[in-house]
This record gives sequence, structure tokens and C-alpha cells, in this order.
Amino acid sequence: MQEKEIKQIFKKYSLPTYTRVGPVFVKGKGSWLWDSNGNKYLDLFPGWGVSILGHSHPEIIKTISHQAGQIIHLPNNLFFSEQALLAQEIVKKSFPSKVFFGNSGAEAIEGAIKFSRLYGKNKKYEIIIMKDSFHGRTFGALSATGQKKYKESFKPILPGFKEAKFNDFNSFKKKVTSKTSAVILELIQGEGGVNVADKEYIVKLRDYCKKNSILFIVDEVQTGMGRTGKLFCYQNYPIIPDIMVLSKGLGAGVPISAMMVHKDIADLIKPGMHASTFGGSPFVTRVSMEVFKIIDKAKLLDNVNKMGKYLYLKLCGLKKEFSFIKEIRGKGLMTALELRIEASPIFKKCLDEKMIINVTHNNVLRIMPALNVSKEEIDEGIKRLRKVLDNVKEEISTGR
Ligand SMILES: Cc1ncc(COP(=O)(O)O)c(C=O)c1O
Repeated sequence: MQEKEIKQIFKKYSLPTYTRVGPVFVKGKGSWLWDSNGNKYLDLFPGWGVSILGHSHPEIIKTISHQAGQIIHLPNNLFFSEQALLAQEIVKKSFPSKVFFGNSGAEAIEGAIKFSRLYGKNKKYEIIIMKDSFHGRTFGALSATGQKKYKESFKPILPGFKEAKFNDFNSFKKKVTSKTSAVILELIQGEGGVNVADKEYIVKLRDYCKKNSILFIVDEVQTGMGRTGKLFCYQNYPIIPDIMVLSKGLGAGVPISAMMVHKDIADLIKPGMHASTFGGSPFVTRVSMEVFKIIDKAKLLDNVNKMGKYLYLKLCGLKKEFSFIKEIRGKGLMTALELRIEASPIFKKCLDEKMIINVTHNNVLRIMPALNVSKEEIDEGIKRLRKVLDNVKEEISTGR
């Protein structure tokens, strides 16, 4: 089928919730994608943070084929080893807790919101959220998101969500009332522009929550699974959360999420209080187990730390060359360039140069390569980005 025809079918039959760009993609391998005309693209934002092992990883293909032949789905009123072993693996690698599996980031956030209501025993129900945060599009997750533009058309949102400034402990404290049951935050705000939480702020916040029986919920949908150089981002800080939410890289492409609740409070929830038909099927949990194995076997955290530093230095080099780059931010392979100009035209020019990155918050370019990205691929990406930035500089100087 021709590219034009596929785009027409999209236009006619898909609800217009997304702005789609570029060609029609047909194949992927590692950090590369191919379009229907055989053109090859460098993908430095694979799957919006989902495809942490790049596209079509051979071990994942093998695991998927094997598990599909074994068993794909079982309901959650039956026992099966795949889910149990994955829960054990995540807990062993993080903090003493119990796990609930869902299908998406937003679903895991919904679970965390419900859990905080349970914890508040119907008396404490307020949740403090952060300005510029992003937690998903379902109603609870949307209400927890600190960005007006996503909520505007869907008012009234759920009650009880109070917005504090990120990285500002006093702003948080001012929002606390006798009804506060939880705070929910990303340790690095992804969609909000790659804003990294300060260590001192997080330590103070965590300590305050512990002393005042407020649940400390971290959303690691984007920062988890090695993205920042530690398996989970909270491990960059001297803290342990009460609840952690994972998704995206957890399945490296298959839809899975997890809500982990600290063991001290986990048994507050009882059978029948929460469920998910597809959540934690043998298929997705077996694939996710393989993701953990590959991260260990291929020493991907070392690669993230090495390549993260390398990418950061290269981007700092670009900042020196181009005055419209305001700041380079991030941790590990979660990086961003904040610009003094609009980022969207640059994203489109990158696409013309056959490279995929991302734009967020109008003026931020986000680069989040696969955890196994190579130095050569980063060099290639920087080369293509420099070409685009040169072009933009030329346009600015000639007033085009
Ligand atoms: C930090 C964070 N939380 C939650 C979500 C929502 O995840 P999903 O789109 O899988 O519902 C996202 C999605 O980008 C995210 O970045």
C-alpha cells in the first residue's frame, strides 16, 4: 500500500487525537527505523521512551515467540509463574513492596490515586501534585497532571488535587492540610521539559512526608528501567518511596505497567478492591522479565552512564556554537536542550534529515535514545542535529 493511501485511511477512520508527522514506518532494528520507501532513520526517541532496547531486539523476539507458543493470557484469579517471578524480580531490585500489574502508565497512576484514598480512610483525600508534571490522560491521571492545557477541555476535573511548584519545598508545605494523603511527583519531569529534582528538596520532602503520614508516590513511568543510569531514578537519591509507578520501558514495547506499594502498607488493599483484566498476563510479564535480564547481561546501566555523559558533553558543545540554545539538562540518557526559540520547526527539520527526536513544552528538544545506543550512533545524531541547527542559524541571520 502506498504512503498516501495509508495517510488517507488514517484521516478517514482514526479519531484525530494525534498530530502525526513524517513518512509511514514499516520496520525497525536497534536505533534505526525504515520507511515504506526504504529510507533509513536514526531514532533517538524510540517509542517515546518505551523501546529502551531499541527496535526488534533479538532476545525479545525469541522470548515473544516462545511465550506466545506457551501461553499468552490467563485471568488474575489463577496462579502462573511469569507474573509471580516478575513481581519478585522488581521488588528484589528496588524496595520491600508488593506489586500490581496494569497495562499503561495512566492505569498505574490510577491505582496509586486509589491507594492513597484507601490510605486516607475516606477522611484524608487530598493529593499534592507538581506544576509542569505529566501523569497521563485518564481522569485521575489527568487531574494529577500539573498542566492546564491538558485539562482545559475536560472540566470539572476531579477534586482534591493541589498544585505546588516543583523543586520548591515551601510551596509544597503551603499546600499541606489535615486532609493531605499523598504527594505525587516525577523525580525528573519528562513531558514538563526534563526538569531534574534537587537532592536537598527531595530529601526534605521525603522526610516531611514520613513524619506527617503523607504517602510519597514517585512516577517512574519515564525515568525507570535504567533511563537515568540507575535502574530506578529514586536510587539517585537517598530515599525510598511509599509507592512507585512504572511502565514504558518495563516491557520494552509490550504494554505493561506496575504499581509497587511499600510492604508496610501493601496489605491495606483487599481482594476485589482493584483489578485489571489484561494486567500482568503471562505474555507481558515473561517479556518484561527478559528486559531485566538483558539490562543485566548487556551491562546497560554502564552504557547509559557512559553514553549519557558523552551525549551531554556533545550537546554542551552545540550550546557553545549556537546562541539560541539556552540550557542542556538531564541525567543519563534522558536529555534535553532548552531553546530560546520554538523547538517544533527544528524537530521537523530533523525529520527531514532522517532523525527522530522530540519536542516538549514548546521550546525544549528531548533526546532519549535506547539504553544500548552506541557512540557512533550518538556521533551520527549530533552530526545531523548540527546540520539542522546550522540551517536554523542561517535562517535567523538572514531573517528568513
Ligand atoms: C511520567 C509519566 N507518567 C505517566 C504517563 C502516562 O503513561 P501512558 O501514556 O502509558 O498512560 C507518561 C506518559 O508519557 C509519563 O511520561
